[in-house]
Amino acid sequence: MTEVGAIIAIDPIGLELAVQPDQTLMQAALAQGLRWPTVCGGNGTCTVCFVRVVEGHDALVPAEAAERQRLSEVGRDSGHFRLACQLRVTGDARVEKRGVRRPIRGSRAGW
Ligand code: FES
Repeated sequence: MTEVGAIIAIDPIGLELAVQPDQTLMQAALAQGLRWPTVCGGNGTCTVCFVRVVEGHDALVPAEAAERQRLSEVGRDSGHFRLACQLRVTGDARVEKRGVRRPIRGSRAGW
């Protein structure tokens, strides 16, 4: 049986990304060839990957203490921000993230 994923809309690039239950948002993006801003490579330490959640807060798996701590350290602890490398979802949502890029045609996917 195939797992049913969620659809995460990403602004301002205007993409809709399928995210499986065993993936973080950033893992799903990279698996689909997108470039996602990061310094730590998805280890949850740089906060560069953060997103602002626009819709679908109820569809987000709650942040663990380490993620909340990192967001707090950079003043993004309002509940509207999450780290894409830690974020798992149970349903559809919409986030805003500047710097997400489609791969250049003919180049290697990833970062
Ligand atoms: S990629 Fe560095 S904290 Fe998410």
